[in-house]
Amino acid sequence: MVQTIEITTPDDWHLHLRDGAAMVSVLPHTTRQFARAIIMPNLVPPVTAVPQAKAYRERILAARPSGAKFEPLMTLYLTDNTSAATIREASASGFIHAMKYYPAGATTNSDAGVTNLERTFPALEAMTALGMPLLLHGEVTTQGVDIFDREAVFLDTELGRIRRHFPKLRVVIEHITTKEAVQYVRAAPANVGATITAHHLLYNRNAIFQGGVRPHYYCLPILKREEDRLALVQAATSGDPHFFLGTDSAPHARGSKECACGHAGVYASHAAIELYAEAFDAVGALDRLETFASFHGPDFYHLPRNQSRLRLERAKWQAPATFSFGTTEIVPLRAGEVLQWRCLAP
Ligand code: DOR
Ligand code: ZN
Repeated sequence: MVQTIEITTPDDWHLHLRDGAAMVSVLPHTTRQFARAIIMPNLVPPVTAVPQAKAYRERILAARPSGAKFEPLMTLYLTDNTSAATIREASASGFIHAMKYYPAGATTNSDAGVTNLERTFPALEAMTALGMPLLLHGEVTTQGVDIFDREAVFLDTELGRIRRHFPKLRVVIEHITTKEAVQYVRAAPANVGATITAHHLLYNRNAIFQGGVRPHYYCLPILKREEDRLALVQAATSGDPHFFLGTDSAPHARGSKECACGHAGVYASHAAIELYAEAFDAVGALDRLETFASFHGPDFYHLPRNQSRLRLERAKWQAPATFSFGTTEIVPLRAGEVLQWRCLAP
């Protein structure tokens, strides 16, 4: 049995860092293992303009633990009013790498998201011309569509319209969760990619209801059926360059998860690469971890692959029950439970 593996240092292509003291708490978990991360812009207020992204980036850089070379790759939040001029300014900035599309009301802090697809067309046209990727929260918000069907319906409706109008637009369907999304992305040309989280590789929707309601497994898009999980594992471990790592690690204070109307989000940054290693190991595919975690993402984003290396060893350890989160705390994925792999200090 393989006891240690060494891979090119991976990147996280979908991460929520939040801001202020909360960000200072969680950032070291990411910088321990990832060289870069695509930073989600769903702050309050959302990061919609280039100067805001610049200031946010500077706060992240200043919060890095000493010695960490971590590079935040910034995004802007697309709204009905994002102009082509903003897209050109973002592209020229050198530090903004993509635009994030939240359908209004789809998830945490998405109220300023897109209400009418047509209104984003000037921005999408400019993005197509400049080669800037569009990162999709791929769920419809239409009343009456079942929560478990929102992703599959999005592919047939909204994404169909986007791709018909802008076939050359570079698109990442973030955190895919269904076998329909796997089939869709696999059949798509190279300008379409998808990120996959560790939690969607490791769990199905039963985890949310195991012996009672488990709010720390509630995220959006919600965990799906076992057949969906298996399709995601197959995609991630297949070597297909459409698929790459994105944790969607989304910390929320314990009190806003463990309550009558808890927020969506799984916190996984404390053990991200270890959890992916476990998912790959479970199907005998550790030899495919590096391409998924360290090559396909930079290739899609037209960025260089990292030069440094990261080592992991097969070793059981217990994840802490909580981590501090500003003045409060977060409950991580696998809280108090055993993990199978451990990342070694460089
Ligand atoms: O579960 C989620 N949490 N899904 C999202 O799309 C947003 C995220 C968050 O920001 O908490
Ligand atoms: Zn997210």
